[in-house]
Order: sequence, then C-alpha cells, then structure tokens
Amino acid sequence: PPTLPPAAALLAWYDRHRRTLPWRGDDSDPYRIWLSEVMLQQTTAAAAGPRFRRFLQRFPDIHALAAAPESAVMEEWAGLGYYARARNLHACARAVAAAGGAFPRDVEGLRALPGVGAYTAAAVAAIAFDQPVVPLDANVERVVARLRAVEEPLPGARPRLDALAQGFMADPAARARPGDFAQALFDLGATICTARNPACALCPWRGECEAQRRGVQATLPRKAPK
Ligand code: ADE
Repeated sequence: PPTLPPAAALLAWYDRHRRTLPWRGDDSDPYRIWLSEVMLQQTTAAAAGPRFRRFLQRFPDIHALAAAPESAVMEEWAGLGYYARARNLHACARAVAAAGGAFPRDVEGLRALPGVGAYTAAAVAAIAFDQPVVPLDANVERVVARLRAVEEPLPGARPRLDALAQGFMADPAARARPGDFAQALFDLGATICTARNPACALCPWRGECEAQRRGVQATLPRKAPK
C-alpha cells in the first residue's frame, strides 16, 4: 500500500487505538478540556480519571466553579498537589464567568487567563476549539525529538522541538483535526513512543522516524546534566 503522509498515518492509528478517557466524552466543552489539562499536568491519566469525574460532579460547569468558595475548591483538589494550581483554577473560573462564561478561543486570549500557560492554552485551543496548534508536553517532546533525531538536550531543545511540532500543522490532514492530532500525539507518547522500551514495531510513524532509522531512539531526548 502507498505510504500515508505523517499526519494521516498518525490519525488513522489514533482512530483505531485511541484510549477511552473520561474527558474524551465531549471535546466541544472547553470547561472539561481545560480542567482535564490542568489536572494532567501533575497526574497520570489513570489517576486523573476518577478525580476528574468527582470534580465535575461537584462543579459541573464554569459557573458552578466560579460561585464556589475557594475553600471548597481547595478541598476538592486535596491530594492532587500543587495547590497554587487549584487557586489559579478558581481565579480562572471567576475570570471566565465574569466575562460571560465563554472561554477565549485562541491561544493569546487563553494565555491571558490566570494559571493558563503555553501548554494549557495550546491544549484547550486545539482540543476544544480545533485551532491549528500543537501542545508540547513531555510526551510530545519525546515523540518529536525522536522523529527528527534532535540531539540537543532538554531544556535547551524546547524551542526547536516546539517549532518542529507546530510544523506538523502545515499538513492538511493535521489541520483538519487539530484536537485529535494533539491527543494522538499524547497517546503515541504514552503507549508506543514511551521513555523506556519504545514499541517501534507498532508505531504508525516507524517509516518516518529518524531516530529509529539511526537506532538511537533509546537515547532521545537527551537531558542536560543538572
Ligand atoms: N495528557 C495531557 N493531556 C492529555 C489528553 N487530553 N489525553 C491524554 N493524555 C493527556
């Protein structure tokens, strides 16, 4: 069969193998996507699942969260760590609710919200609003470093990895499905392109991967000595 272009191959793999995760029920609700992405910055998908469901039962939408006292939000966040994040979550909910309840749809607008950094802004813009951006987390950094055999160590390599990742959006197949493309990269990094013992034989990008071609995938990404 003819080789699919990179984005189409990844999306076809995702359509067959995507993980069922609680926040994937309704990609069009930015509140759910934002909440899940903040939780996932400090918690694995497996651990975040039950906490995400419980949080939504207590605070089902942005208005419920904004109306709650901060102490209730802190209490619900207990055990998730990084309590500044919970405080920012509440401040962000109040800012969005005060502006009418709709999240900004683009990266710049999202970044202006309390606690929303480059990663969260890109994740919400891509997943909830299908904006053509690629959120760069540790999984995506690893996938890109290997795909393009980037030898420069982290964290210095980050701007380059980010530029390479944004470059995926030049592919019309990626631009047609930015939210799925982002989540396909997360799933590829979590299940195939793992930090240790990557399952290259099962990878939809095995024919594209420069690190695997050179046999150096296990050494990438490099990390600068502390
Ligand atoms: N890690 C960060 N965001 C994620 C998502 N939306 N799905 C799976 N893993 C993730």
